[in-house]
Amino acid sequence: MDTSDASPDPLDLAALAEPNMSPVLGRYMDRSWSHGIGHRLYDTAGNGFLDFANGIAVTALGHTHPRVTAAIHAQVDRLIGPVHAIGFAESTVTLGRMLAETFPDPLDSVLFLNSGSETIDGAIKLARRVTGRPAIIAFRGAFHGRTIGATSVTSSSLNYRQGYEPLLPGVYHVPYPAVYRDFADDEAAATGACLAHIRELLRTVVAPTQVAAVLIEAVQGEGGYYPAPVAFLRGLRALCDEHGILLIADEVQSGLGRTGEMWAFQHADIVPDVVCVAKAIANGLPLSAIVTRRDLQERWGRGAHGTTYGGNPVACAAGVAVLETIRDEGLVANARARGAELTGGLRELMADFPGIGDVRGPGLMIGVEFVRDRRTREPDGATSEAVAAKAAEAGLLLLNCGNQHQVIRWIPPLDVTVPEIEEALALFERALRG
Ligand SMILES: Cc1ncc(COP(=O)(O)O)c(C=O)c1O
Repeated sequence: MDTSDASPDPLDLAALAEPNMSPVLGRYMDRSWSHGIGHRLYDTAGNGFLDFANGIAVTALGHTHPRVTAAIHAQVDRLIGPVHAIGFAESTVTLGRMLAETFPDPLDSVLFLNSGSETIDGAIKLARRVTGRPAIIAFRGAFHGRTIGATSVTSSSLNYRQGYEPLLPGVYHVPYPAVYRDFADDEAAATGACLAHIRELLRTVVAPTQVAAVLIEAVQGEGGYYPAPVAFLRGLRALCDEHGILLIADEVQSGLGRTGEMWAFQHADIVPDVVCVAKAIANGLPLSAIVTRRDLQERWGRGAHGTTYGGNPVACAAGVAVLETIRDEGLVANARARGAELTGGLRELMADFPGIGDVRGPGLMIGVEFVRDRRTREPDGATSEAVAAKAAEAGLLLLNCGNQHQVIRWIPPLDVTVPEIEEALALFERALRG
């Protein structure tokens, strides 16, 4: 940890927050943050931390990125408020075009909203309205957000659901092909079993003619950083096509180059009908988007959905700078290359630390799963949490995930460098040694 600017009397923001700030927000830590520069966050005592948490994959270009910050400053002096009830703002239209260009055909139509949860609710509404069908199939272990619609399709933790029922009716949860956790590394078995489960559901529980959409994270995030096998995603696409069901990809965490492809579904060479985008799109400003082919949004119908703040010109100016930086600096390729180095380094640590059961990518969306025993694969959330806490003490910010917090997720900035990867691996090894 860099302590060069250590202040003698640091501001304790947690104590100041105590009387008035709602305790409902879960926090991985309760440190007091002063500012961020590049890939480091600084606390109010002046300690610098290498930030590989990034507000959960939000500040994907790090903090106060010069290009993003300049774009925000310029837009703030021009037009701040959203104008879409009365017309268009240039940055919003520009980002709409640039975002659409990152998608394969025929995905070309963008609706800007504010948060990931909102895109999930919007996608559910779109699917129901366009298909005239009520049911949605979602995956166990998925996290899609906190609004009541997004909560209804979420099952990564009981705490997100209990006390809120009845949730949205017509939601069916099916097993996710978590290959390491549930299928002993057998991708074919995971693919076969999970597709068979959906077919059985469609044969015995809900008729395919009643199903509007299947909603999936191509790499499950909060649920434990489990990538779905390519064959499963292809089989799911075929199954949806067979029954006229829309395939919705939740790319809120996995999108924008994070996995070494611009969009995680591209690893399987499939094209979803609806894609939900948020988090990294504006590097920290609130912005999200639902992307589909044009005819779906036309059939959704004018005025069928709406937003006051979505597509805010300042957030969109930041979004333009984000996409330009990803393109100009080759950051999707960087995610692939640095991801391979980081995954390789973490796998080397497995030789000395038997508590690490698995290290898996893709790209810079890496899960390190802790187990009590490599043979039984019993999850070890206590060790995983303790190691993340030790890493923070050593100066490296990492977050847990998985339903028992047994996974440490690695989500470094997309423009992470080789020396930073080496530094992070050294700090992590120190944390593992306790
Ligand atoms: C995959 C996924 N979907 C949806 C959401 C919800 O996004 P938000 O918190 O912006 O509503 C998240 C947030 O972590 C997420 O990881």
